[in-house]
Amino acid sequence: MEANRLMRVNKAVLFAGFAGLLLVAGCRQDMQNEPKMIPQRGSEMFADHRGARPQVLNTVARGQLHADSYFYTGVVEGANGYREERDLMPFPVTMTVLRRGQERFNVYCTPCHSRVGNGLGEIVERGYKPAANLHDQVRRAQPISHYFFVMTHGYGAMPDYSAQLTPVDRWCVAAYIRALQLSQNAPLQDVPAGVQVKKLQEVAAEENLPPSYAQPWALPEATNVSAYPNNSKEGTPAMAPARPADPKINIPASKPAPAAAK
Ligand code: HEC
Repeated sequence: MEANRLMRVNKAVLFAGFAGLLLVAGCRQDMQNEPKMIPQRGSEMFADHRGARPQVLNTVARGQLHADSYFYTGVVEGANGYREERDLMPFPVTMTVLRRGQERFNVYCTPCHSRVGNGLGEIVERGYKPAANLHDQVRRAQPISHYFFVMTHGYGAMPDYSAQLTPVDRWCVAAYIRALQLSQNAPLQDVPAGVQVKKLQEVAAEENLPPSYAQPWALPEATNVSAYPNNSKEGTPAMAPARPADPKINIPASKPAPAAAK
């Protein structure tokens, strides 16, 4: 009697176990059929059948709060609603900032603008549109955030560098451009009394360099092939006319450059 009941219980357990096994085998939860969202694919789970969910209204994802918009854009909204550039650095300029700017400038900008920033870099020597001379009156008069804006969005024939340079790096480069400009335009009265200043010609003579070392250089005729037709009306639209040789551009010589940002 006792043994009989035991047998019956055992059978019931066995049956339940077998039924359970069948159930598990019925679902194919293996790697061919993963319950996951595939980017851009629809989904039956949501009412709008969109797999990629839009951002929840009035929320900001982590790391996407760009509250300091001047730092990220280089512009502020002016009184008239238009964006305005400012001659203002969003953080203090230190030697570290300038060194970083110099290093990044030499990597990304010198191929076209050259190390001294005169716009006659190697790529330009091989026929690219002359890049801006960062020492001319117009470029020196531009507010510092203009350089940030140009690096962020590109300018005419110049591609943008927003992928290569983080916002901090772009500001560092902008600050370095100001240092470069000062290096070519420093007035003698800025030199402390008693300090002797050598002319570049004297340095060249001392170092046994050719006199041309101390002079501005021009594009070599042999390699300077213009990618643009002579008639500027046939040029690519939305590009500024070539510099610095274009006689139609009148660069005002009297406009004083605003003081560089502190
Ligand atoms: C591939 C060549 C090239 C590189 C690299 C390049 N530029 Fe330029 N840049 C140009 C050209 C060309 C122009 C003139 C654009 C035009 O007039 O169409 C220009 C113009 C400029 C101007 C003047 C904009 C104005 O308002 O007139 C600035 C400032 C400038 N570049 C900064 C930079 C900085 C900073 C870098 C490095 C991050 C850089 N460029 C890298 C080709 C280049």
